[in-house]
Amino acid sequence: MPKTPDYFAGKTILITGAASGIGRATALIFAREGANVVCADINEHGARDTAAAVNGRGSQALALKTDVTSRAQVNDMMERALAAFGNVQFLFNSAGAAFRRAKFLEIDDALMEKTFALNVDGTFYAMQAVLPHMLKNKFGVIVNVASMAHRRGGPGSSIHYAAAKGAVVSMTMGVAREFATQGIRALSISPGPIKTPFQDAAGSSPELVQRFLEDVPMKRFGEPEEIGELVLFMCSDACPFMTADTVYVNGGGGWR
Ligand SMILES: NC(=O)c1ccc[n+]([C@@H]2O[C@H](COP(=O)([O-])OP(=O)(O)OC[C@H]3O[C@@H](n4cnc5c(N)ncnc54)[C@H](O)[C@@H]3O)[C@@H](O)[C@H]2O)c1
Repeated sequence: MPKTPDYFAGKTILITGAASGIGRATALIFAREGANVVCADINEHGARDTAAAVNGRGSQALALKTDVTSRAQVNDMMERALAAFGNVQFLFNSAGAAFRRAKFLEIDDALMEKTFALNVDGTFYAMQAVLPHMLKNKFGVIVNVASMAHRRGGPGSSIHYAAAKGAVVSMTMGVAREFATQGIRALSISPGPIKTPFQDAAGSSPELVQRFLEDVPMKRFGEPEEIGELVLFMCSDACPFMTADTVYVNGGGGWR
């Protein structure tokens, strides 16, 4: 929660991956706080649906069809956000996926490339699109979604994904430190397994999902809102000394 009541009222957050899961849940939490929400996603119908739900909570929204692997589309997303709301104070990069599970020797170039294009390039393009504007305002908070996988390496199923999320953690730290004296904070979140369509999208077998569950000391998946509330805190005025690091949200870890 913010330190100042109504802190988010009238401020604008740009969310990629807003059609589903963690991005959508975060959009609705910021709507609750009165923020304007730019809902960007490659899934246009889903982005519109989230924007309608934001409107339903009394906040303004803009739905955009954006493929974050395209720098041109990401730049266009930023221009449209500014045209609609005049300012963007917060960026939440939630668009991401593991695409499919594969053992290390079965990861082909195409899987590696598209995993990095979405999780790394998408985050890179969005930060480069937003930062000049934030620097002009001497204010901005960027939150990127990494994964606990980066800490564990993804053996047996997702080294491609874990490596991409490791890059997200490093890039976030670098950006935070490069702009630390210019009013910019950047943080990443490394969730454990969260109840969203993500596992379906990754084609995770029921056995793998069960193994994830057994690894979580709390013996449950997280809810997407349990990430969204942390995004709200990170963007708020309650933690101005917090920047650069990744925060693990995983029901007790599991570091084997
Ligand atoms: N759910 C989990 O268990 C889990 C765990 C750790 C990290 N994460 C990360 O959390 C983030 C959100 O995932 P989620 O669980 O909400 O999954 P999700 O599948 O529900 O949502 C991902 C969203 O990203 C969008 N997307 C995919 N490709 C895109 C592109 N090229 N351009 C724009 N949007 C695109 C999808 O349409 C979807 O709406 C991802 O970065 C994911 O890697 C998820």
